[in-house]
Amino acid sequence: MDYKAQVTNSILNVLDGQLTSLQIYEKIEHPKDSKMGDMAFPVFALAKTFHKAPNQIASDLVSKMDTTIFEKVEAKGAYINFFLDKKAYSSDVLNQVLQEGSTFGQNDEGNGGNVPIDMSSPNIAKPISMGHLRSTVIGNAVANILSKNGYHPIKDNHLGDWGTQFGKLIVAYRKWGNEEDVKKDPINNLVKYYVKFHKEDKQHPELDDEARETFKKLEDGNQDEMDLWKWFRSVSIAAFKKIYDKLGIKFDTYNGEAFYNDKMAEVIDILKDKGLLTESQGAQVVMLDKYNLNPALILKSDGASLYITRDIATAIYRERTYHPAMNLYVVGSEQTYYFKQLKAVLMEIGLPSAANLHHIPFGLITVNGKKLSTRSGRIILLDAVLNDAINLAKKQIEEKNPDLANKDQVAHQVGVGAIIFGDLKNDRMNNIDFVLEDQLKFEGETGPYVQYSHARAESILRKSAKKINFNSSNKELDDPQAWETIKTLHEFPEIVKSACQDFEPSEIAKYALRLAKDFNQYYAHSKVLVEDEGLNARLALVKSVSIVLKESLRILGVQAPDEM
Ligand code: ARG
Repeated sequence: MDYKAQVTNSILNVLDGQLTSLQIYEKIEHPKDSKMGDMAFPVFALAKTFHKAPNQIASDLVSKMDTTIFEKVEAKGAYINFFLDKKAYSSDVLNQVLQEGSTFGQNDEGNGGNVPIDMSSPNIAKPISMGHLRSTVIGNAVANILSKNGYHPIKDNHLGDWGTQFGKLIVAYRKWGNEEDVKKDPINNLVKYYVKFHKEDKQHPELDDEARETFKKLEDGNQDEMDLWKWFRSVSIAAFKKIYDKLGIKFDTYNGEAFYNDKMAEVIDILKDKGLLTESQGAQVVMLDKYNLNPALILKSDGASLYITRDIATAIYRERTYHPAMNLYVVGSEQTYYFKQLKAVLMEIGLPSAANLHHIPFGLITVNGKKLSTRSGRIILLDAVLNDAINLAKKQIEEKNPDLANKDQVAHQVGVGAIIFGDLKNDRMNNIDFVLEDQLKFEGETGPYVQYSHARAESILRKSAKKINFNSSNKELDDPQAWETIKTLHEFPEIVKSACQDFEPSEIAKYALRLAKDFNQYYAHSKVLVEDEGLNARLALVKSVSIVLKESLRILGVQAPDEM
């Protein structure tokens, strides 16, 4: 039963069409303090049409309302406060969660529509830094949120595997590199060569010409250059996959930029046909004055394609392959202007999905207050941070629960979970500073806290070891902590929808924290496992919490061990 819809209807029935049911629904709040009701409707939006003071409007509406289905409805200031019938509501909510299990909160709003998500997308021959963590875990969570809302997400790792930098890398490798080193430690050594190139070319600018020629050969498909490039690419992907495995994240495709090389000529043809290309100092650009944007450079004067040329080809390919309902790009906010240009060019081309292209940006990440710059040579590697987190989790488990079976597996789940959760709990546009010790605390706003709450619920259920026999004849849960927890459970489907509309995994993370907190307060106040007539209802509550916490964590890409 959707109680928010019930509240919506009660308001709709006493209005004369001043607000639509959707408008009402979206304005309903869940007051923090239960004294203000379980749901509340602010009447401010009606002040203009009624020409009355808000508190007058509130009490007029309440006097007209049929309030019998509620425990109580009252006008308070500019608010109408609804108090739900606790017994009916509680048994409804718990029954629904128990019956639906992990599908609780699922909806079919997305109608099965395909949604390619451009995510992670590191550059080959470079390490995956903490910077790529954000795109990877936000993208993965957005994909899970989309599935939960009935879409079909396609996780596409748009690897940066093409561009003039590969001319430089090949030149550098031939001058200073060797096969054994690359085999032993591919990414670090390739980075070393590349950094050396940038040092040397200051004194020897002819290196740049050489790199340009080498890239041209690569573009023309010259065998030797192709072989080196393919090798760099495959050792890089192998190294990336180890990290993705650690994170528990899988991709549907790895079509990097190079995949679109043979699709570039068509892009130029399309742009020409539509009369969109303009020559500017020998280069080809698309003018975007209409959008208040700078021209997009499509072809350099030497005929070389660019990042955006490949992205146009990518968008066309995705249109034809998936007929996407939406096209998502989870890429840092430093590329916001770029994605505006890309969208504008695609609009000009008339690509159907262009209107539903969404750049999903996110803020910067620092670790212990330090930037993650690659230029200076200091890089904070994601892999190292994950290993540190796993080790720290292991240490804590040794202290707290030395007898735990499969400690290593749980340490992995907790360590990695702490990193993912520590990222996702923040509004994605916020800059975040990552302090590992803080993310791994078992108390406070952390992944381990939510995991621990879930494990605590599971341990209660294990101890009771009985089948929950929950039905309407159960004695009601009448303590305020149980009531708060049940209301939070009921909010889950709404949060799932809103997180999808906003492409905002933090809404799920914050929700999980809230539910865990409610549950811990409940647990601190009630003895769950006492044999009395309330036992079934209490177990039903514990089980429901366990289900929804686990499902929230799953959506975020975090595992929920049963014991920790
Ligand atoms: N490889 C790029 C980087 O590391 C991100 C690519 C984003 N995706 C895209 N379709 N442009 O900055």
